[in-house]
Amino acid sequence: MSELNSGQAIGVFDSGLGGISVVRALIELLPNEHLIYFGDTARVPYGSKSKDTVIRFAHQISSFLLEKQVKMIVVACNTASAVALEHLQQNFDIPIVGVIDPGSQAAVKATRNKHIGVIGTASTIRSGAYLSAIHALDPETRVTNQPCPLLVPLVEEDWPHDGVVTQVLQSYMKIFDLEKPDALILGCTHYPYLKSVIQEVMGEAVRLVDSGEETATEVQKVLSGLNLLNAEVGDPGKHKFYVSDYPQKFEETATRFLGRPLENLFKVELEVLESYK
Ligand code: DGL
Repeated sequence: MSELNSGQAIGVFDSGLGGISVVRALIELLPNEHLIYFGDTARVPYGSKSKDTVIRFAHQISSFLLEKQVKMIVVACNTASAVALEHLQQNFDIPIVGVIDPGSQAAVKATRNKHIGVIGTASTIRSGAYLSAIHALDPETRVTNQPCPLLVPLVEEDWPHDGVVTQVLQSYMKIFDLEKPDALILGCTHYPYLKSVIQEVMGEAVRLVDSGEETATEVQKVLSGLNLLNAEVGDPGKHKFYVSDYPQKFEETATRFLGRPLENLFKVELEVLESYK
């Protein structure tokens, strides 16, 4: 592994803005850490794209982040974690953490009836990544998967939490009616923004597992194990945000996702990104 030091930033990337839910969790848990976020807003969504395409995009973004001298990469996107994490870990010489393993560990710990539900994009569910990760931890645990492709656009649109959202969720969650899991993995960057409605539809007894939050704890563990936590006292983390496009309503959505205005926002041209090997 190349020479890394604790003062370097953590790189975080997602297909778009949803990964800011992971940034939020990281800022809360590790306020000293400098963060560099990349949101591939020009090429979102990843959830409906092929594995090869998502691997190529994830590789380019990781090369970009490495050039920015990050000490670690967090793959905040569930879809990219599901299909590209292994490729990235084999091709880049710094610690790389995805959201699938931390989410699975928390769910296995949380379930009492040994039945876990997983919701995510079509690609994440098709990859079977959560299923494999859960079964690697406990082969006895039953896993019920449900792709929910309509949820990302509803969150992106900032659709109010009204009857439409409830109806869409009720329809997706029907699969859990017969035998109910007691833990549900929110296997997509966007789903934490719907947490309250999902909880209402699933019922209070079901524990919702936010993979992003669990990942922040994993990042802390990995950095601490490598002695790479930024211990500078009085050195509040600086945060930089890069995107591949400024979509309509961008500032508004980003500010809402982070809970405060984005500082240091830059655009990277797609041709530049595509030149990274
Ligand atoms: N970031 C993606 C994920 O967590 C959701 C949005 C997309 O489809 O790109 O799976």
